[in-house]
Amino acid sequence: MRNLLVAGGAGFIGSNFVHYLLERYADYTLVVFDKLTYAGRIENLERARSNPRFHFIQGDICDMAAVREAVQRYDIDTIINFAAETHVDRSIMTPDAVVSTNINGTWVLLEVARELKLARFHQISTDEVYGAIPAPGRSKEGDPLEPRSPYSASKAGAEHLVYAYFITYGLPVTTTRGSNNIGPFHYPEKAVPLFTTNAIDNLPLPIYGDGLQMRDYQYVLDHCEGIDLVLHNGALGEVYNVGTEVETANIEMAHKILDLLGKPHSLIEHVVDRAGHDRRYALDCAKLRALGWRSQHSFDAALERTVRWFVDNESWWRPIKSGEYLEYYRKQYEERG
Ligand code: NAD
Ligand code: DAU
Repeated sequence: MRNLLVAGGAGFIGSNFVHYLLERYADYTLVVFDKLTYAGRIENLERARSNPRFHFIQGDICDMAAVREAVQRYDIDTIINFAAETHVDRSIMTPDAVVSTNINGTWVLLEVARELKLARFHQISTDEVYGAIPAPGRSKEGDPLEPRSPYSASKAGAEHLVYAYFITYGLPVTTTRGSNNIGPFHYPEKAVPLFTTNAIDNLPLPIYGDGLQMRDYQYVLDHCEGIDLVLHNGALGEVYNVGTEVETANIEMAHKILDLLGKPHSLIEHVVDRAGHDRRYALDCAKLRALGWRSQHSFDAALERTVRWFVDNESWWRPIKSGEYLEYYRKQYEERG
């Protein structure tokens, strides 16, 4: 593994992964291939741009010729696929983009990896593919996939293609299923950065329904370390869950953000729930732990670091919260009352 193509590397987790990998492996060359959708931000990669082992290509993973060209030009041996439409609420409003990017785009990457006989294809997937998990159950990698939103269905579809390429063509693949990430560069449409930036501005924090939905919020660097471990020590054809195995109710997460910022709980506003909202996700991560992985951040530590980053990096998020974002926000939240 020497020359890695990181699809979707200008997004939240992808950019954190790029910085992490450049620091960790002195002999790796990283090529970010990213369409720069509303969620892809070239400024997330600012720190990497002066590094001679880093390259950036603006391109669409659905464009096979462009992907092939990038892989050949940089003699790529490994593709890591972060590229996706990732917001569940947007996938409910306009499902077409999740189907084309998450399913068709993954297929294009797999096809190029097969044609050019790459050494590894790694797919970034999600705990949402298991569907809602009633307590006290925990999802293991062999459990059935029961996705319930257009987003999670598209991610499950992509995973099935990845596995099919392993079985049918012998493509060396691995997959990780991560829980909710939080940390730097998190686009402020997602709950934690949305609540944090709204609270800073004394705006309401829109909680869906009763706010008792449970999520496993993990610090993004812990997820990056899990992906790194699977890339280097994971078994081909296998899937690995990545999470803290600690769940938090959304309402509790919102209270903690307000407390960290010294803001009143009265900023919380209960709004109409997400359609088909999964009540709870919970992963069993024993398989990854057996490879030596441990989550380094408790929920409180992860949240504190995240909130502090948003306080210190207003110049990153404030320009995002204008234009297209405000249009989306009005549409999404006006409908919720
Ligand atoms: P993000 O929305 O912040 O970033 C997605 C990136 O993909 C952006 O840079 C965007 O420009 C790029 N992209 C979108 N469509 C593209 C296309 N057609 N061609 C090329 N690039 C394209 O997402 P994220 O939160 O960083 O998630 C990254 C991956 O991790 C996704 O596959 C997501 O499903 C998965 N995941 C996310 C979480 C989470 O909590 N955020 C948890 C588990 C898994
Ligand atoms: O679980 C992993 C998934 O986590 C990833 O695969 C997705 O790409 C990522 O977006 C995330 O999905 P969620 O739907 O869990 O994340 P989001 O931040 O949108 O919402 C977190 C929880 O907060 C969820 O239960 C919905 C709720 N929520 C969200 C928003 C945006 C609210 O209550 N109010 C809100 O305004």
